[in-house]
Amino acid sequence: MQKRSETISPTAHYTGYTWYQHGLSHPALVTPQGRVLHTMVGPLNALARVTGAPTLSGLLLARHHSIDHLLQGAIDDGRITQVIEVAAGLSPRGWRFKQRYGDRLRYVEADLPDMARLKRDRLARSGLQSPGHEVVALDAMTDTGPLSLSALADTLDVHQGTAIITEGLVNYFDQAALLGMWARFAQVLARFPHSLYLSDIHLSSTGDRMAVKGFLAVLSAFVRGRVHLHFESAGEACAALRQAGFEHATLHEPRMLSSAAGFTPCAGADLVRIIEARGQHT
Ligand SMILES: C[S@@+](CC[C@H](N)C(=O)[O-])C[C@H]1O[C@@H](n2cnc3c(N)ncnc32)[C@H](O)[C@@H]1O
Repeated sequence: MQKRSETISPTAHYTGYTWYQHGLSHPALVTPQGRVLHTMVGPLNALARVTGAPTLSGLLLARHHSIDHLLQGAIDDGRITQVIEVAAGLSPRGWRFKQRYGDRLRYVEADLPDMARLKRDRLARSGLQSPGHEVVALDAMTDTGPLSLSALADTLDVHQGTAIITEGLVNYFDQAALLGMWARFAQVLARFPHSLYLSDIHLSSTGDRMAVKGFLAVLSAFVRGRVHLHFESAGEACAALRQAGFEHATLHEPRMLSSAAGFTPCAGADLVRIIEARGQHT
């Protein structure tokens, strides 16, 4: 699974550039690889825009703003004061949320060791890291040991409401790997008094089937492997989340969140759904 995970990492450079290009990030989180990949994918995005087809940037921005919005709501109403962003890549969310909430929020970004090192160096060199904002090495596929989520959760305060986020990760894993990861997330979240899991996911029945297939073909070529569509419907995905140990699960359509979340939905927004789930608490 480690080898499979490594092929996913270049996509973080691409999305890192997208967040920057749309005013959500800082130049320190842009890499040369991100710029090159953007130049390569640029004509596809341009073609999609003129033909009215879904754009990759429309999809990415819809998922990013939707997750921001749901996380912000949970922090503002006092449920969540600790966040673990698994597979954070070069996402600016940790930096942006720490700027907004300061000492009221602990934000731990986690990724495979090489990506975590890159992110940590970039944040530190640019002075973007503040107390309570960490970047750690983690392998979401591991049950035990120093790279496991369980070991990371041991370092958190068990009396604080805690969120786990994954963005741009779940569809790269096959069904067994995904269900295993969700079970680990639910088990860890049950330690805390309140919990939240937020993630994007692609379903096989979502949006225009041709558009979904085209998008997945590009993505599969990009990561040199198959991209998995595990569930046909929101109902199936929610049932799997409950089976994995979550108490409550909903799938949101980004378009329905767009006005509250402050973004303009375009065709790409309809190709993705946002999971909001809560762990079981005694
Ligand atoms: C598509 S990028 C998404 C990055 C970021 N979340 C974003 O939206 O900009 C996927 C990320 O997943 C990370 N990743 C892949 N396999 C992983 C694993 N087993 N454990 C933790 N992170 C992993 C990669 O290193 C990469 O940073």
